[in-house]
Amino acid sequence: MLYKSLIIESIREQVEGFKTFTFKEHHGIDYKAGQYITFVQKTTHEEIRRSYSIVSAPLLKEPLTIGVKRIENGAFSRQLIDHAKIGDELLSSGAGGLFTLPDDLSQFRQIFFLAAGSGITPIYSLLKPVLHCHESIQVVLIYSNPSPQKTIFLSELTQLEKEFSQRIQLQFLFSNSPNLSLARLNRELLIQLAHKNAICAFDNMLFYICGPEAYMRMCTYSLQEQKVPRENIRKETFIIQQKHIPKLDPPDKDSHLVTVYHGTETYHLHVQYPDSILKAGKRENIILPYSCETGRCGNCVAKCINGNVWLSYNEVLTEKDLKKGLTLTCVGHPVGGNVILKI
Ligand SMILES: Cc1cc2nc3c(=O)[nH]c(=O)nc-3n(C[C@H](O)[C@H](O)[C@H](O)COP(=O)(O)OP(=O)(O)OC[C@H]3O[C@@H](n4cnc5c(N)ncnc54)[C@H](O)[C@@H]3O)c2cc1C
Ligand code: FES
Repeated sequence: MLYKSLIIESIREQVEGFKTFTFKEHHGIDYKAGQYITFVQKTTHEEIRRSYSIVSAPLLKEPLTIGVKRIENGAFSRQLIDHAKIGDELLSSGAGGLFTLPDDLSQFRQIFFLAAGSGITPIYSLLKPVLHCHESIQVVLIYSNPSPQKTIFLSELTQLEKEFSQRIQLQFLFSNSPNLSLARLNRELLIQLAHKNAICAFDNMLFYICGPEAYMRMCTYSLQEQKVPRENIRKETFIIQQKHIPKLDPPDKDSHLVTVYHGTETYHLHVQYPDSILKAGKRENIILPYSCETGRCGNCVAKCINGNVWLSYNEVLTEKDLKKGLTLTCVGHPVGGNVILKI
C-alpha cells in the first residue's frame, strides 16, 4: 500500500491552539463524514502514526479538511500547529473509522450529538450531511467548552442553527457560565436534556459522543442507564494512552495461516500467538492499515471471510459489526484454524 500525499492548501486558526488544515484536491482518499485521516511520519528509528478527524462533509463537496488541537509536548500536533505551512506535504495511510452514519437511517427520527472541546471535529462533519441531506431527522447538539471564546466552530454552528431552526436544538455549555446548572455536563443534566428534547423513543434515536475519556464514559453510562440500546450509542476516542495487555488467553495459541486480501495484493502470514495479525504483517514489512494498535480506533478493520479471529480487546466493533464478520487485525489472533481476511 503506497502512502497518499496530501498538500496543505489553507490553514485557519479557529480558536487559540486549534487549527483546521484544508488539503488540495486529487489526493485519492475516499472518506465518509465522521471518519479520520491517519498520517504517517518516518523518523530515523521509528514510524509514527497519528489520526485526525475530518471536519469536511464529502456529500456537500467540501474539500478535505481536518481539525488539530495543539497538545503540550505533543510530537505531531505541535509540529502541525506551530510549523506547518501552505504547500507542505503530509503522508497519509488513508481514511478510516466507524464513527459514521448508518447506510440506512430510516428507523431513526432523531440524532443527539454530544461533543466536548476538540471532540466537535467528527461531529461537525456528521452534523452537516444530516441537516442538509436527511430532512426527516431532528438534531440535538450538546456542546461543552470552557467559554464562548474557546468554542471551535461557534459561528458556523450558530449559522447552521439559523438555517435549520426547525430541525436543530443547539445547547452550548460553558464551564465559565455563572449559571452553574448549565455549566458542565453531568449525569443529571444529560438525562434532563435528553428527555426534554426527545421527540421519540430512545430506540429511534442515535447518540454520537466525542470528547475526553471521562466525559464519554459519563455520557455512555447515563444513556445506558436510561435504556438507550448499546447499538444506538457511537463513540470516538481521541486519546490512546497505553497499549492494551490482554488479560484473557485465546482459546488456542497455535500458529495459523492468515491470508489477507488487501486491494490488489494477497499476503500469506503465519501468525503465532502472542503476535496479532497486524504484528505478523509488520514483521514481514507488509504495510496494512492501522493507527492506535489497541482495538480502539477501527483503522485496521477487516472482514473475516473464512475461519475465526479472537479479539484480545475491542472498543469499536458493535455486536452487529461482529455478526457481519468484521474484525480488527491489531488485536486479532487466528484461532481454531486458518483464516482469510479482506481489507
Ligand atoms: C480516531 C482518532 C481521531 C482523532 N482525531 C483528532 C482530531 O480530530 N483532532 C485532534 O487534535 N486530535 C485527534 N486525535 C488525537 C491525535 O491523533 C493525537 O493523539 C494528538 O494530536 C496527540 O499527538 P501528538 O503526537 O501531538 O502527541 P504525543 O506525542 O502522542 O503525546 C503527548 C502527550 O499528550 C497526551 N495526549 C495524546 N493525545 C491527546 C489528546 N487528544 N488530548 C490530550 N492529551 C493527549 C499523551 O498521552 C502524551 O502524554 C485523534 C485520535 C484518534 C485515535
Ligand atoms: S489500529 Fe486502531 S483498532 Fe486496530
